[in-house]
Amino acid sequence: MQQTPTVPEARAFAVRSRTDLGEPILSVRGLKTHFVMDEGTVRAVDGVSFDVHPGEVVGIVGESGCGKSVALKSVLRLIQKPGRIVAGEIMYRRPGRNGARPELELDLATLPPLGRRIRQIRGGDIALIPQEPMASFSPLHTIGDQIVEAIRLHDPMSVADARKLAIAKLREVGMPSPEQRFRAYSWQLSGGLRQRAIIAMALSCNPAILVADEPTTAIDVTTQAQVLQLLRVLQQEHGSAIVFITHDLGVIAQLADHVVVMYLGRVMEQGPVRSIFHTPRHPYTRALLQSVPSVHSEARVQLPTIAGGIPHPLYRPPGCPFHPRCPDAMPGTCDVRVPAMVDDGSGQPVACFLHHDVAEADDGA
Ligand SMILES: Nc1ncnc2c1ncn2[C@@H]1O[C@H](COP(=O)(O)OP(=O)(O)OP(=O)(O)O)[C@@H](O)[C@H]1O
Ligand code: SF4
Ligand SMILES: [Mg+2]
Repeated sequence: MQQTPTVPEARAFAVRSRTDLGEPILSVRGLKTHFVMDEGTVRAVDGVSFDVHPGEVVGIVGESGCGKSVALKSVLRLIQKPGRIVAGEIMYRRPGRNGARPELELDLATLPPLGRRIRQIRGGDIALIPQEPMASFSPLHTIGDQIVEAIRLHDPMSVADARKLAIAKLREVGMPSPEQRFRAYSWQLSGGLRQRAIIAMALSCNPAILVADEPTTAIDVTTQAQVLQLLRVLQQEHGSAIVFITHDLGVIAQLADHVVVMYLGRVMEQGPVRSIFHTPRHPYTRALLQSVPSVHSEARVQLPTIAGGIPHPLYRPPGCPFHPRCPDAMPGTCDVRVPAMVDDGSGQPVACFLHHDVAEADDGA
């Protein structure tokens, strides 16, 4: 008997309501990132919109290849050729001190990807914990030297002060013997310790947003739980927002305030974590939740497989991207028109003709 996962009443961390969190710090609107190749165009991200509020934890979930990493790399302007942002806005609002009006408002999509501005925002304002853990540190330099370099890139302080700060950050993330580990190379550390060093580096400039792409895939289950606990505690202490990608619905249930469900480069549904788990509206969200074999509140729930395969990236279906796999698909509508993302005021926008009849012009870009 299959059981739909729920958000446990007693979570390790209270859910934050968006109404308490003020203006979004990041607003992504209609983002499209395509890879144009000789074989054709991969529309990896094809009209994605979501907000991140100060101090909020946003979880992005969806099957492999649906564009989660490309979406977050686009925000940080880390997409390389043949990839390119072809449309959309990435508004970043750097918070003023003590909740004052934003001191900087900038569309990151308009910045030159190799320019000084984005390099300062990357790491200083928005820090990334990448999907490939080995990508964070060069094997040629000690982790301490690399954290010191990151600190000084964003904050002109002496090497001695940056070194003290780096060791303090390593201590803060629970690194045993931080002075000694400061002199270690990343390849000398276990997976769990390396992940802590990556988090220390990401936090070294007190970013307003921490972006974590599957921060726990490369480490064992016990260490995963410690790392997630650490992220949330640090988020509470520093007030940084966290945007994290995961395949693990259990992690979403435990940590996220707001959930964004992606499929084939588009957002299918989003909303507060309890609404997504308890009253999912999109057939894709329901399929994700229902095909979990067995669940109880503490279970770690890996993203299940859903009936039907994911289409080849070069050959997306016309109409609703989910229609070839959707048990509720309506022929003549779902296979022809692309449903727009519509919020009916419930705070849980959904892109599905079962809930509204609003189609989005498919510009084929
Ligand atoms: N450099 C590239 N060139 C061509 N296509 C790419 C490139 N990088 C990503 N893609 C394609 O973009 C799509 C989205 O990829 P992305 O890495 O964002 O998926 P994902 O949701 O993060 O998957 P996973 O859960 O496996 O990490 C995929 O179809 C992928 O093949
Ligand atoms: S729009 Fe149609 S095919 Fe797409 S999810 Fe809704 S019912 Fe299914
Ligand atoms: Mg990915």
